[in-house]
Amino acid sequence: MVAPEQPFRTLTGMHDLFDPDTARRRALVDLFATRAEQAGYREVRPPLLEELGVFQRLGEATDVVSKEMYEFEDKDGRRVALRPELTAGVVRAFVQHHPPTPWKVWYAGTSFRRERPAKGRYRSFDQVGVEVLGVDDPDLDVEVLALAWSTVRELGLRDVRLVVNSLGDGDDRRNYTDAVAAFLHSRRSDLSEAAVATSERNPLRVLDTKRPEDRAVIADAPSIAEFLSPDSVAHLDRVREGLRALGVPFTEDDRLVRGLDYYRRTTFELVADSLDAAQNAVGGGGRYDGLAEDLGGPPTDGIGFALGVDRLFLACDAEGVFPAPEPVLDAFVVDTTGGGAARDLVHELREARLAADRRYGGGSLRSQMKSADRSGARWALLVGTDELAAGVVTVRDLRTGAEQETIARAELVGALLQRLAPTAGTGRDGSDGRDDEREGTRT
Ligand code: HAM
Repeated sequence: MVAPEQPFRTLTGMHDLFDPDTARRRALVDLFATRAEQAGYREVRPPLLEELGVFQRLGEATDVVSKEMYEFEDKDGRRVALRPELTAGVVRAFVQHHPPTPWKVWYAGTSFRRERPAKGRYRSFDQVGVEVLGVDDPDLDVEVLALAWSTVRELGLRDVRLVVNSLGDGDDRRNYTDAVAAFLHSRRSDLSEAAVATSERNPLRVLDTKRPEDRAVIADAPSIAEFLSPDSVAHLDRVREGLRALGVPFTEDDRLVRGLDYYRRTTFELVADSLDAAQNAVGGGGRYDGLAEDLGGPPTDGIGFALGVDRLFLACDAEGVFPAPEPVLDAFVVDTTGGGAARDLVHELREARLAADRRYGGGSLRSQMKSADRSGARWALLVGTDELAAGVVTVRDLRTGAEQETIARAELVGALLQRLAPTAGTGRDGSDGRDDEREGTRT
């Protein structure tokens, strides 16, 4: 095989992720999973690739489906697509496996949209989210919105707003769409060319426009509030009441229509004001009561949300919150004998569930100590010819700089474990909380 002229690179809009970003992502997924599981949600993992039709149900008039999907024919001649989001796959899974309702699931995963890349807008991006199938109760809407809100708060974000709207049930939404289409038609000479084109495909999307000239026109458009049925109004009232009772602050925006077509009744977005206006939605969701039917299942109510992990982290950086967790390393073995001491000792430490590392290829005491310092380990464990001969290890505490100790090789692992264990009475040994956390894994 001939080597490429230029080394390969990631595709436009896609990124490699490294530590500490990867560690931070894992911490976020852990935080979210814990919160969701405490609220009775269990994990679901639909595949990344589905039959194209699954995603076409998101609305053929939406950009996500008509312009941004990675779709192709597989070798069996089937039209397939990489998922642009997870809701459609989760609802397809619900229809396929008919689990008992209410079906409460959470997920974390990557989606793909062939969008124009920008800061906060990528072609491969991660989301965490939940879906609930089979419950019509507006108190569930409150639970779902509160979960999204408290996740964002727990990350430490403060400059984020929750914006709520109702798009009404199927009939309300259809009537409203017709009214907006008629309005846009009557004002087409005042609208930008792009807005006129969008109004022909998907009139509601024009309400979302960020162009100032269009926004002036949109200000006069009819409001969804005039089209809501009494049932939709009652549902929205109960959601408002619940959010107030739980102390979840929100504002309402009757122009919030969202980018996917499946939404009915409650819709919402989390907006980070620390980000550029064009990409400031860090999450969004709502009800999609007709989607299960569209995917060939029985009529089933549904609601959920997804938070955009990449954008959440941009907002965290802007606010200086939720830093990546520090790597945890208990011991770094420094072996200047060139024998098997480092090999055997790191293995023994790891088998005892201590985090241990070493350097390969030997090197002087000085250079190995440099590696030990850089590693962030708590202890450097030194094995030189003297230690080897005496059957001991020199233990240097790299964090406190306390005087080094000599411990018998045979007792070393037990002694280190004891130091990490909480001291009776205080419940702590004075080190950081991670020790407590890991206690359960040490037997
Ligand atoms: P969405 O609004 O399309 O909704 O995406 C949710 C979040 O994912 C956005 O608010 C944003 O933070 C992030 N996101 C979307 N596209 C990109 C991108 N190209 N680059 C970076 N981040 C992005 C959904 O996906 C629905 N499935 C949410 C839902 C769940 N509705 C009901 N259940």
